[in-house]
Amino acid sequence: MWVSRISSFGAQAIKKLTQGQLSHIQRTPYLYASSSRMETLLQLPPQTHRYFCTTDSSKDGNEEQQINVTFVETDGSEKQVKVPIGTSMLEAAHSNDVELEGACEGSCACSTCHVIVMNVDYYNKLPDPSDEENDMLDLAFGLTETSRLGCQIEAKPELDGIRLALPVATRNFAVDGYKPKPH
Ligand code: FES
Repeated sequence: MWVSRISSFGAQAIKKLTQGQLSHIQRTPYLYASSSRMETLLQLPPQTHRYFCTTDSSKDGNEEQQINVTFVETDGSEKQVKVPIGTSMLEAAHSNDVELEGACEGSCACSTCHVIVMNVDYYNKLPDPSDEENDMLDLAFGLTETSRLGCQIEAKPELDGIRLALPVATRNFAVDGYKPKPH
C-alpha cells in the first residue's frame, strides 16, 4: 500500500513540476539521481558520474605504475630494474635475477632479505619498521643505520630511484661467499 501511495505522490509531483507549479522547490541531487525517466520528464541534464582513478590517464599507464630501483650486488655491480607499484623489493629482486635470499618467502620470519638503503633520504621515506621487522633485523649480518628487510619494502611512487645494496653476507651465507645449496 505504501509503495502505491509513494508512486502516486511521485506521479503527481512530476505532473505539477512539469506544469511549473512546484518551481519553488529546489531540484535536489536526489531528483537528479532518482531515475532516468524523471530526468527525461523534467528535461534535466543527464546525471554526471564521477569515477575514482588512481592513475593519471594522460600518461602511459605502464610507465606510471612502475618505479626505478637499483640493486647494488655484493660484487659492486648494479642492476637497474622497473618495479610495479605495490611489489616488494624481495619480489622485484627475484623477478630480475638479483641474488637476494628470501628464506621465509616474505613472511618477516628471517633476515635473509636484508638490504641497505643507500640514501638516507629514501630511507626516511619508508614507513617505520614493525616490531617483527626490527626483531629480524637484529639477527642480520652487517646491520647498518639504513638497513631494512627487502620483503617489507613496498614500491611506492616516492621511492622512484631508490638504491638498495645487498650485504656481503646474510645469516644463510658464509662470509667467504659460499652459498649453501637449497635443501
Ligand atoms: Fe624472510 Fe624477508 S624473506 S624476512
